[in-house]
Amino acid sequence: MKRILITGVHGQIGSELIEELQNRYGMENVVGVDIKERPSPTSGICEIVDVSHKTGIQNIIEKYNIDTVFHLASLLSVKGEKKPDLAWDVNMNGLKNILDLARDYTMKVFWPSSIAVFGPNSPKKNTPQSTVLDPNTMYGITKVAGELLCNYYFEKFAVDVRSVRYPGIISYKTEPGGGTTDYAVEIFLEAVKKKEYTCFVGPETRLPMMYMTDAIKAALDIMQAEVSQVKIRTSYNLTAVSFSVAELVIEIKKYIPEFTCHYAPDFRQNIANSWPQVIDDSEARQDWNWEHRYDLSSIVKDMLVKLSERLNYV
Ligand code: SER
Repeated sequence: MKRILITGVHGQIGSELIEELQNRYGMENVVGVDIKERPSPTSGICEIVDVSHKTGIQNIIEKYNIDTVFHLASLLSVKGEKKPDLAWDVNMNGLKNILDLARDYTMKVFWPSSIAVFGPNSPKKNTPQSTVLDPNTMYGITKVAGELLCNYYFEKFAVDVRSVRYPGIISYKTEPGGGTTDYAVEIFLEAVKKKEYTCFVGPETRLPMMYMTDAIKAALDIMQAEVSQVKIRTSYNLTAVSFSVAELVIEIKKYIPEFTCHYAPDFRQNIANSWPQVIDDSEARQDWNWEHRYDLSSIVKDMLVKLSERLNYV
C-alpha cells in the first residue's frame, strides 16, 4: 500500500479508517472521496466524487497515482429498502467501476460485504461460510451479487480484491446511517444523553456485532495477508460477539443503573430476523489469523467512557 484511496470516507467506517491509514502511511498518501461535504474533524486530502460516475473516480486514481482502494461507499439495509434503485446504482455500479479500474490500473481492493448476504433460509446459528444466500433486502442482494463480481474479477482478470462480511459495527466517532444494526449504536448515545432508549427491534433480537477497532483491524489484516493466505475471493465470514438487546441493556445498566430501554419494533425487525444470530468465522481465523480483541463487556465500557467524554457528560 503506497497511495491509498478510501471511498465513502465520511461514513461510519471511512472516517475512522482514514485516521489509521494516515498514521501508518502519512497524510499525503491517503485520499478520501465521498459524495458529501467533509465534516469538520476530518483532515487530509478529501474530494467530492460519486462512485457511480466512473470518470470521476478514474481522475482521482490518475491524479494521485492510487495503488490501493478501500471501497466503502454504499447504501445500507434500511436506506436501501427506501431507495432500492439508488442502492442498486451506488452499490453495484460503484463496485463494478472500482473493479474495472482496479483491473486497468493494477490496484488492490478491499470491499466490505455484510451479514446481510444471508436470508430467511440461511442457518441462524453458527452460520457457515458456504451456505444458502437468499437475502430479501436490496442491500443484501447487492452484497451477494458484489461478492460474486469480486470473485469473477479475481478469477478472470487477477484483480487482488479482498473482502469480509462485516457484522453490525459499534462505534462512537461517526454514527452509522441507515442500517438495521444502528440500534446497537443509538442505544449508547441515548443511554448517555437521556438514560432512556426506544429500540426499533425487540429485546430478544440477537445479531453478530463488532467494535470499530476490530473492524479496522480486520480490513488491515486481510489487506496485509500474503496472497496465498486469502483463499476465499467472494467474502469471508467475520465476527466478534453476538448479543441480544436485553443482554446489551444489562451490560449498560452496570454503568448507568437508571437506564431504561423501551421496545417499539418496526419493519426493521423483519430485516434483523432474516439475518444470522451467530456466525462461524473459523476460515478467516485459520487462513489469515483473524482475531478480535473486544468482547461485549469491553465494548460497553469503552463506548460509555468515550461517548461521555465526547458529549461532555463527565
Ligand atoms: N450494518 C449493516 C446494516 O445494518 C449490515 O451490514 O445494514
